[in-house]
This record gives sequence, structure tokens and C-alpha cells, in this order.
Amino acid sequence: MKNVDHLLAGRSASNGADFVRAIFAEARKPGVISLSGGLPNPRFFPVEALIASTAKVMRSHGTEILQYGTSDGFLPLREWIAGRYKQQGIDVSPDMVVLMSGSLQGLDITGRIFLEPGDEVVIEAPMFLGAIQTLANYQPRFVPVPMGDEGIDTDALARTLQSHPNAKLIEVNPSAQNPSGVTYSAGVRAQFAAAVKNHQALIVEDDPYAELRFDGTRPISLRRELGDRVIGLGSFSKIISPGMRVGWVVAAREVAARFTLGKQMVDSHASNFASATIWQFIQDNDIDAHIAGINAIYTIQRDAMLAACKKYFPPDVRYTHPQGGMFVWVTMPEGADALTLFRDAVATEKVAVVPGAPFYTDGVGGKTQFRMSFSTVEPAMIDEGVQRLARAMLRHLDGA
Ligand SMILES: Cc1ncc(COP(=O)(O)O)c(C=O)c1O
Repeated sequence: MKNVDHLLAGRSASNGADFVRAIFAEARKPGVISLSGGLPNPRFFPVEALIASTAKVMRSHGTEILQYGTSDGFLPLREWIAGRYKQQGIDVSPDMVVLMSGSLQGLDITGRIFLEPGDEVVIEAPMFLGAIQTLANYQPRFVPVPMGDEGIDTDALARTLQSHPNAKLIEVNPSAQNPSGVTYSAGVRAQFAAAVKNHQALIVEDDPYAELRFDGTRPISLRRELGDRVIGLGSFSKIISPGMRVGWVVAAREVAARFTLGKQMVDSHASNFASATIWQFIQDNDIDAHIAGINAIYTIQRDAMLAACKKYFPPDVRYTHPQGGMFVWVTMPEGADALTLFRDAVATEKVAVVPGAPFYTDGVGGKTQFRMSFSTVEPAMIDEGVQRLARAMLRHLDGA
């Protein structure tokens, strides 16, 4: 194949995707315990129930869902999503919901609608690297605000917003953040609302992990406090299936209409086939019981990971205690280098994590940090994996 590098758009020349692909390739090698993935556990994909839902909905809605549809997506599912917000005390109507081919597409269309090159977007640091890559296509100026133990550093956020009055978006992942696992506390939520109150920016609430909750109550969407300031991104990926690619945007009616237009331009509409199958699944099964089943197992796996960290990591290594989601975020002492550790850990101990640097946009953050996922690994393998990692880490820290 002829080299096409000279034809590439500047925005796609380098966006970190290769680095991450290389990490996942290492993690897939035989014998490697991968704590690097961010995948939902496939044991919870309701295969049999979805076969039944597919057959049933094809019989009842076959010609409708095999035809092109409207760009806002399959109405019964949008009605169900609106009802789910109502259960949280948030008034959402179906015309405020637009189905997306995964919630990440909601972020992409957010960029399309709002961002010119050079526009400022306030983000959490660290932040989900997929979101960084998606937004980077619109060539914004990222303005990172550090994450603390209970959520975004709201003092830093307030200062940042003061010094960046023209920022257009504030992108946050307040429930079980990827990569840190941190959920905003009630205090941080209140301070967040106060900090953004007099600023023009829209809040993008990236919330695919909201339902994955192990301790305490399910966090309520920021929309409850901040109303139409919030563009919410939700997803069935972590609770039913990521491969079906069905997520949604919930926004003020006039903003939702822009997403509908954006969706039309990108790919007409989300798959009606997948959306209708999900809808039928929810009609015929107890979705809350299904989610509770996922949470019960993830809680055991989270606990196994935290117990192993406590048992094997040196005392000056810090790690988060996630109340939900899939990730534990580890911070080694100053001088450590997570990338060097990663290379050694894969080569000698056969265990893989994700080094922290790609979760930052400034080229310096994350050097001493890495992400581990517990979602797909059995407790015994989590223990073994963390033990192996700790061996590599002790060698690394001795030499650091
Ligand atoms: C924070 C965050 N946002 C969005 C996504 C993408 O989800 P979806 O499958 O709905 O596009 C992920 C997936 O890993 C994620 O971690």
C-alpha cells in the first residue's frame, strides 16, 4: 500500500491511539494477566435473553426496525430512557433524548456542534483517553483541572473558570471515573455546581458507569442540580452490551434537536435493530436485577483488587478505592516511571496495566501513575496479577 502520511489531516496524524493499541497488543500475549482492559465482563451479556428479545421484536416491529428511521432514534427506547431519569427525580421528556451509536459518539457530535479549532474545553486530569482522542479531532485547547480523592478539585476548577471565561465545554465523568475510579462526593457535587454557576460553559456529563455501583447510593445525574446546562451522555454498554453500540444524549430540547441534526449528518440514526432489541429486553426482563447481578460480582472483584493492593504494594504506593465502575488508579512515589514499569512487568512477570500518561493532555501528567481494571478478571487471577505487578514494582522502585 502506498504511503499516505503526507495526505493525512493534521488532526489525525498523531492522537495517541497507536500507543494504546501497542499496550493492548502486549496485554493479549499468551500467559499475560491483563489488568489493562476496560471491557465489561462478557459473562453478563444476556445472550439467551437477547436471542428471545430479537425474535420477539422482529415479529412485532420487523419492517419498522429494518427500515431507515428518524435521526433521534427508536422512540420506545427514548421513552424508557426519559422514564429512567424521572425515577431519579429529573424531568426528561423523550424529545430531549437522542440515541447514539454508543455514548462516545455523543461526545463526538458534541465536538462537531460546539467546537472550533482553538476553543477551550475544561477537562478532568486524568481523563478517559477515548474522550481525549475524540475531542482532539476538533482541535480544542484542553484546560485540565486535577482530580482529587473525592472528585474534581473544585477550587482549581473555580480558578480555571475565572481565568478562562470563554471556555465552551466542561467535560466530566463524575461517577466512577475512567481512569481513576473516583465518584464525586456530595460535597464536590455541590461545590462543582457553585463553581460553574456563573460561567457560560455547557457541562458534558459523560456517565456510562452511573449504574455500576458497589457502595452507597447511585449518584444522581448533575442534570438534577444544573438542569439544561448539562449535556448528558449515557450508555447501555456497561449494563447490557457494548457491541450493540447503543448510547444516548440527553439535553435541552433545542440542543437535542442539534444532536438529531448532527446524528443525521454522521450516520442517519442509531441502529433501530439494536435499539429495539434492547428495548424488548428491558420489557421482558428485570433490568435492575440484571444490573444488581453485575454489581455483586464487580464488588467481589473490586474487593479482591483492593485486598491485593494492600497485601503486595509498598506502603508509599497510593491507590483509589472505587465505589463503582471498573478501575483502580495507582500512584507510585515521585521518580517512578509507569511506562518503564509496564514494559518490565509485561516482559518478566507477564502482567499488564495501562500507564498513566495517555490519560493526560499536557505531556507530563501520569508519569508515576497507572490504571488497573478488575472487571473481567477472576478474583484469584487479580490476586496473582497484582502480586506479579508488585514484584516488578518493587524492583523498579528500588532502582528509581
Ligand atoms: C468514560 C467513558 N465514556 C465513554 C465510553 C464509551 O462508551 P460507549 O460504549 O457508550 O461509547 C467509555 C468506555 O470505555 C468510558 O469509559
